[in-house]
Amino acid sequence: MSGVVLVGVQWGDEGKGKITDLLASQFDYVVRFQGGNNAGHTVIHDGVKLQLHLIPSGIMYPDVVPVIGNGCVIDPKVLLREMKTLEDQDISTERLLISTNAHLIMPYHRDLDGASELRLGANEIGTTRRGIGPAYSDKATRLGIRMQDLFDRSIFREKVAAALVETNDVLEKIYGLSPYSVEEIAEEYLEYAEILKPHIAEISSILNGAISAGKNVFFEGAQGTLLDIDHGTYPFVTSSNPTAGGACIGTGVGPTRIKRVLGIAKAYITRVGSGPFPTELFDEDGDTFIEIGHEYGTTTGRQRRAGWYDAVITRYAVDVNGLTDLAITKLDVLSAFPTIKICTEYEDARGNRYKTVPGHQSAFHHATPLYEEMPGWNVDITHCRKFEELPQEAQDYINRLEELAGVPVSMIAVGPSREQTIIRRSLV
Ligand code: GDP
Ligand code: IMO
Ligand code: MG
Repeated sequence: MSGVVLVGVQWGDEGKGKITDLLASQFDYVVRFQGGNNAGHTVIHDGVKLQLHLIPSGIMYPDVVPVIGNGCVIDPKVLLREMKTLEDQDISTERLLISTNAHLIMPYHRDLDGASELRLGANEIGTTRRGIGPAYSDKATRLGIRMQDLFDRSIFREKVAAALVETNDVLEKIYGLSPYSVEEIAEEYLEYAEILKPHIAEISSILNGAISAGKNVFFEGAQGTLLDIDHGTYPFVTSSNPTAGGACIGTGVGPTRIKRVLGIAKAYITRVGSGPFPTELFDEDGDTFIEIGHEYGTTTGRQRRAGWYDAVITRYAVDVNGLTDLAITKLDVLSAFPTIKICTEYEDARGNRYKTVPGHQSAFHHATPLYEEMPGWNVDITHCRKFEELPQEAQDYINRLEELAGVPVSMIAVGPSREQTIIRRSLV
């Protein structure tokens, strides 16, 4: 068969974990292809809330093979902690596969992430401080340490020594932090190697073989389209490619094997960290989104910024990812509003209109959202399981989002649990 890619449409936290968990049982493999433990994906399993940072949201199903692809950056300490948390809840992690080529987050990456944010001060990116950016930097400058390096002690020491030549100088001389020795890092990391060894695999050949044999592969994106280092609101982005093309790069599976691309968008929009946000609200409506939608970061606990649904961003995400389907999540949160707004276009100071995300960052920073208003429904919809069961106003809202996006809304989430979902079009 072939692959289905799931991506975040906005700035992350769209409910990707919930949708992945819902769909995972229809797939043989669920694969993370970029990012690291900056992600926080919430899954509700047997009534228990689980927050996954690195392990794919398909882990709950015994017949699904969870995979961490080469495009991810892995903090082994965090990974082992997450595996233990799952094991403690009787969720087996034995099947987990990790790419030989995935890069490792090292202790100095975490230090550098925090130190560089402090140095930026008011201009900070608002990173998760998990070492993501510095780990991808080392990958690009070819000083990265990969998963496979853990299994050759002398190569590991050599590579860490090479990385430390420059990194220690930066830590000490620029940031006034303590340097690292090869031995202290080797002592910690080579111990992880023993535990991780059974999970290490050549992911590209496994996934290609599986697809050729008629198996279904699900690629679970982290973050979102506007956090993409190439297509997002640079520099206020993460350091990987959360867009659909990242699924190919981050696993070694070619684009001809991807059949569908599902974009996940909230029925409104949120952002954690700094950067432009045209529909951001600073009034009571914004507070309502935070309160009713429980908009606090899964990874860092920070309060999210919130605003009305932005159809300009969705249209952009349709293009950049080649979306074939949309899932709209958290529709139930809109039940709190008598009137609902949708941003359909931006306008700049000169009166120029934009139907898609402007190419120049300044235009996006200064974009004024133009809204269309629709009546709300003001009733609880969390029990609805069919589109026709939704109040007419909610149906009209979804139909309008579909029209503005130009792709079908195949799924609608009306609550955090797996069953609180309306499925209109199947993916496999
Ligand atoms: P992810 O990073 O995209 O996986 O999203 P997060 O897990 O960080 O944030 C989404 C939050 O919304 C989680 O707390 C989910 O349990 C919750 N959630 C997901 N879908 C819905 C929904 O349809 N309605 C409500 N009320 N909550 C939802
Ligand atoms: P999920 O997968 C929301 C944001 C950070 C910061 C920027 C860069 O749960 O949707 P980084 O630590 O990656 O260098 O931070 O990206 N960010 C996220 N925001 N959801 C996420 O993941 C995020 N991962 C990173 O807040 O603005
Ligand atoms: Mg999240």
